[in-house]
Amino acid sequence: MAAYEYETHDYDVVVVGAGGAGLRATLGMAEQGLRTACVTKVFPTRSHTVAAQGGIAASLSNMGPDHWQWHMYDTVKGSDWLGDTDAMEYLAREAPKAVYELEHYGVPFSRTEEGTIYQRPFGGHTTEFGEGPAVQRTCAAADRTGHAILHTLYGQSLKNNAEFYVEYFAIDLVMSDDGACTGVVCWKLDDGTMHVFNAKMVVLATGGYGRAYFSATSAHTCTGDGNGMVARAGLPLQDMEFVQFHPTGIYGAGCLITEGARGEGGYLTNSEGERFMERYAPQYKDLAPRDYVSRSMTMEIREGRGVGPEGDHIHLNLSHLPSEALQLRLPGISESARIFAGVDVTKEPIPVLPTVHYNMGGIPTNYWGEVLSPTKSDPNAIVPGLMAVGEAACASVHGANRLGSNSLIDLVVFGRAAAIRAGKVVDPEATNAPLNTASVDKAFDRFDGLRHAKGTVPTAELRLEMQKTMQSDAAVFRASKTLAEGVEKMTAIAGKVDDLSVTDRSLVWNSDLMETLELTNLMPNAMATIVGAEARHESRGAHAHEDHPKRDDKKWRVHTIAHVDGSKVTLSYRDVIKDPLTTEKEGGIAIKKIEPKERTF
Ligand code: FUM
Repeated sequence: MAAYEYETHDYDVVVVGAGGAGLRATLGMAEQGLRTACVTKVFPTRSHTVAAQGGIAASLSNMGPDHWQWHMYDTVKGSDWLGDTDAMEYLAREAPKAVYELEHYGVPFSRTEEGTIYQRPFGGHTTEFGEGPAVQRTCAAADRTGHAILHTLYGQSLKNNAEFYVEYFAIDLVMSDDGACTGVVCWKLDDGTMHVFNAKMVVLATGGYGRAYFSATSAHTCTGDGNGMVARAGLPLQDMEFVQFHPTGIYGAGCLITEGARGEGGYLTNSEGERFMERYAPQYKDLAPRDYVSRSMTMEIREGRGVGPEGDHIHLNLSHLPSEALQLRLPGISESARIFAGVDVTKEPIPVLPTVHYNMGGIPTNYWGEVLSPTKSDPNAIVPGLMAVGEAACASVHGANRLGSNSLIDLVVFGRAAAIRAGKVVDPEATNAPLNTASVDKAFDRFDGLRHAKGTVPTAELRLEMQKTMQSDAAVFRASKTLAEGVEKMTAIAGKVDDLSVTDRSLVWNSDLMETLELTNLMPNAMATIVGAEARHESRGAHAHEDHPKRDDKKWRVHTIAHVDGSKVTLSYRDVIKDPLTTEKEGGIAIKKIEPKERTF
């Protein structure tokens, strides 16, 4: 018998999470007449996508020549050849369509003189298969692009009769005995009631797990809840060792200063006033990809050329830009710099530091968003009834390093793809499978155990221990010794989950309990990250290993598959998909253009 009484809700589709990917999936499902619920722990327009600043990549060619194949090439190279080629083709090819759809839904993009969507340069986006100059590919709504997209998608979802369950915390997935997902168990935060959503398709759009680290641009709500649920369901996570550090988090506060600032002409300097990126990336300089720029900044600091009294950060200069341009194109970050760094960007540089920003890894999916549970005999086996989209997912289009502005386009292209696929596989006429009450009971038992946890370690204390360990031992640069120490420390930290102490036993707005549930989600993410990193003996994208400084395509052009059970992580590997979706004959890219080579900028 379940530890709690609950209300059951029947839908065709339940989407968990209302960020860009969740809302785009919700909208696409509802537009097709599928009975769609969107369950979210925060009000939709407060989801972390609201913080996305610089823009969304698509080869619209509004500001000069561009082509989807160039976008695809840049994404392949940006991923350091770890992305799945079919998914990367799908992303680049569908991107213009997905952006025009957003425009027609009402996203208030910034405009060119001609009235077309304004596009700015972003790191790693180039022309002529990496041979030509940087391209203006990133479509922007000033520096508040995520905000504009999120509000538009929420309005459109309501218009199409999607139903929202706001401030519902997803505890665990409901799984059938034969391994299909049939729903999700939730706790309603504001009145303490319990709810079970029974659906033909569950879509996880729960975002990243930046808060496994001490300093992150991500909201405090980014706790990898979907990934945690997937791990507890015995399903794997993929490529978790690849964690992106954004070059320009505000020093100290960690808030994001968009890469659009460099796209609009901003540049980085060291303590000698030198534009050091010219040395590291002679062709694209400050517009090299993020992993490159973050490493270059870290090297400057290590070699004694950092700025500030402790020489521990870098300057981002914008004061040479016309103040009208700053007001028009970068109003949000001008305000953030004033509030969080006390800096007037028209006069002074912003103190910045590489800061955790994005998780390339996540729940493995194909390019339709269907969750994979790879086996030896079938590396593409899917989990019936389960999809994942957005940062929670690993499609995998970003491989070892994501290009800036490829995140927003990932959200809408794959949110949309999931809806297209669900339109084919979900039968609205069919009745929902009966609930597996054993699976529901298990979720409530776990919840109840945490609610009454009487151990010795407060949640906040254990979270801080995890965050500090991840920050120091799975950082921009990694080494065998620190990674091994990190695995040891994290294993002990994860073990302490069984000794948590929760002091508030109530069910209404119990933030102690909610943060404890979130910690139990962060922990498997952190474990998969550090164990995957320790095992990967090469350097690729965001994984810069000082004892293995070269990329090793022979051995390591493979996805890491991690099964996490408490503090135990079991790793296996799966081949990267190397073939594009369409051949050159069908209008696709020539394979020889995207074969691995040295990644220089
Ligand atoms: O720098 C930024 O505006 C962030 C964009 C992104 O992560 O794609």
